[in-house]
Amino acid sequence: MLREWDATTYDSLPLPHLRWGRRTLGRFSFAGDETVLEAGCGTGRDTEALLDALPRGRVIAVDGSARMLDRLRERLAGRLDRVEAIQADLTEPLPVGAPADAAFSVATFHWIHDHDALFAGIARALRPGATFAADCGGKGNIAHVRAAVEDVLGAPTDIWHFAGAEETRERLERAGFTDVRAELVPDPARLEPGEQFDSYLRTVVLGAHLDRVPPAEHDAFVSAVAERLAEPVVDYVRLEFSAKRAG
Ligand SMILES: C[S@@+](CC[C@H](N)C(=O)[O-])C[C@H]1O[C@@H](n2cnc3c(N)ncnc32)[C@H](O)[C@@H]1O
Repeated sequence: MLREWDATTYDSLPLPHLRWGRRTLGRFSFAGDETVLEAGCGTGRDTEALLDALPRGRVIAVDGSARMLDRLRERLAGRLDRVEAIQADLTEPLPVGAPADAAFSVATFHWIHDHDALFAGIARALRPGATFAADCGGKGNIAHVRAAVEDVLGAPTDIWHFAGAEETRERLERAGFTDVRAELVPDPARLEPGEQFDSYLRTVVLGAHLDRVPPAEHDAFVSAVAERLAEPVVDYVRLEFSAKRAG
């Protein structure tokens, strides 16, 4: 389900996504002239790092949120000649032209339930031999936050999809990838208690839950989740994987 994000607040927060992006970028060895598909580019932080790594290359930056893409265009003003920013749903056939040389993604795939459709779409957008590397929330991700959310809701939440390493390897192979490496990496993030933690939960973690709650109840929902957590920590477990598009 596509939804909007508060791109301005998102970019003002101390995001562990920065290091996840750097780690994911480290899985590629670019010649510098490639075209890279970025799936879930958000506000363009990693798009910028990709452009730096591709002095003669291009980035096809796909995201479902118009506000995230507006912020990306602001951030990359002056470099947009090498970026194609596309608003699209990653679970639908991707509106991209010639097959890309690589695909990159950070902190996006756990928002998508149908990973078979997702990986098949990415495979179709890549040339044989292309590298695909990604990070997202994996099995066991934010277990304490999730328990707090479910306690507040009084019911299980169906918002996130935190896949395991082995099932991801199998899905990637079914979608036409080889040389798959996938692992779960615990990587908790500590925030400042109070306003910063609440803002982080509201903007980065709980947005899709808040979409289901009247705006007048958003503050109370965020506070109720924060109060149930012993520390201002988001107990992330990352699913990191890389693969090659089969020839
Ligand atoms: C947590 S943000 C990560 C953004 C960026 N990669 C980063 O690391 O800061 C998740 C992004 O995934 C996008 N997204 C989630 N589901 C999507 C879908 N089905 N199709 C396209 N984009 C999607 C959201 O719009 C959002 O920008």
